[in-house]
Amino acid sequence: VKVPKVTYAAIPQDQLEILHAYYEEAQKQIPQKLGKHYPIAINGQRVAGQGKTIEVRSPIDTDIVVATFNEATSDQVSQAVDAAAEAFKIWGSMNYQERVNILRQAASNFRDNKFELAAVLSVEAGKTRMEALGEVEEAADLISWYCDQMEENHGFVREMRRIIPNENNKSILRPYGVWAVISPFNFPMALSTGMLAGVLASGNTAVFKPASATALSGLEVYRMFEEAGLPSGVLNFVVGSGSTIGEQLSDNPKISGLAFTGSKDVGLHLMRKFSYPYARPCVAEMGGKNPTIVTSKADLSKAVEGIVRSAFGYTGQKCSACSRVYVFSDMYDQLVDKLLERTAKVIVGDPRQREVFMGPLIDERAVNKYLSAVEEASADGKVLFGGHRIQGIGMERGHFVEPCIVADLPQNHRIIKEELFVPLIALVKVDTLEEAVNLANDTEYGLCAGIFSEDRAEIDYFFNHIEAGVVYANRSGGATTGAWPGSQSFVGWKASGSTGKGALGPYYVQQFMREQSRTVVE
Ligand code: ALA
Repeated sequence: VKVPKVTYAAIPQDQLEILHAYYEEAQKQIPQKLGKHYPIAINGQRVAGQGKTIEVRSPIDTDIVVATFNEATSDQVSQAVDAAAEAFKIWGSMNYQERVNILRQAASNFRDNKFELAAVLSVEAGKTRMEALGEVEEAADLISWYCDQMEENHGFVREMRRIIPNENNKSILRPYGVWAVISPFNFPMALSTGMLAGVLASGNTAVFKPASATALSGLEVYRMFEEAGLPSGVLNFVVGSGSTIGEQLSDNPKISGLAFTGSKDVGLHLMRKFSYPYARPCVAEMGGKNPTIVTSKADLSKAVEGIVRSAFGYTGQKCSACSRVYVFSDMYDQLVDKLLERTAKVIVGDPRQREVFMGPLIDERAVNKYLSAVEEASADGKVLFGGHRIQGIGMERGHFVEPCIVADLPQNHRIIKEELFVPLIALVKVDTLEEAVNLANDTEYGLCAGIFSEDRAEIDYFFNHIEAGVVYANRSGGATTGAWPGSQSFVGWKASGSTGKGALGPYYVQQFMREQSRTVVE
């Protein structure tokens, strides 16, 4: 049977049936993996962490213990860094093609194990079937794409001009050394794999720390690379809180660079630390407050579908999620009607169930953040839809909430300005495209943005004036979400990113290398 690939594209019904059947089979097997105590990995060896115990519980039902780990101690973190530094001596000077061959095997491992991995993502991160399968495919495609970049650029060696006749000149990009890779809970496989693939393909070695909430997904990522045959020490896996391990990694002078995806505050804090004792490179993606504009020339059905998918897909916990909608006044009432009607059809529940579109939030803190935002919205504006916690049958011990739509908030309101990472959108009325774009830009973030308009001139104005790295027009599959490796660069402007070059794009791997100019007098 040919198993279809899950991206963000629509899949024909008969092929969907195949995916569901395999996923359900994998979900039946998953209890064998759950509730176990898992190791960390240093220098190719799986070892017990010696720090305090971390228990990962499922956001679907907190009675389900997904996994336990022991945190790495500071000694173990140092050992991991030392192992990576030692391994760099070989990995960093290996021919890029040899590295690419090993990494391509890791990509195949993700593809071959996609149902098993998706089943873990559902239980641990609360992802629906299709979001989970899509994430595993994205992880595999990220590796392939970065391998393609290494090959297409011939390992980034280029001849330079010969000015003095007997001098042969080259510019070559070379890896830095050991990178700390710190990844978030929301795409625990794709984002970590993407950062790791960029770091490793370019010849660096890594110490990888996943978010504690999704540590088992992190270990699965490690396993896919390990089983591809990476030499010992090239990739090390440590578990523990960001505030301890992130600090230890950034304090360690043998770490040459940081690849980070997560919140702005943590990212900026780590970047400050990485500027001492000298500036070390930081490739960071730090969230968004992504706007969508709906003009008078919009096709409203496309707009509504795109907004709902983008705002409520993975429960609003994508850095790309739409959280603000600027609507032209003459479209406002119609859009609100259609949006409420469509949102009422969003099925919230156990994401392992076939029909569910929106699973739980990751933890209780997120639920509280949601509830306080709703409270503020009803005090300072209006709640048009949702706003409650859901604790129906089978959801009593999960972090489930309703999709929420709010309106009439002032532009400087916290809900309009801060990234909340919950399924809540704020609607704002505007009169012109210029006003919409100005308000959309009035935030420190600049990751994704969308517009719905059938007028090419409006789209061009939006593209030219919006301050965001990933911009979409008329995307009903997700107004601001769904970037795919090789198709969209996932680049954050302003507080959303550190380098102005995106993951998933053609300039990503270069960021993990430094240039060396080589001149030989012949
Ligand atoms: N690729 C994911 C998205 O764009 C992060 O939603």
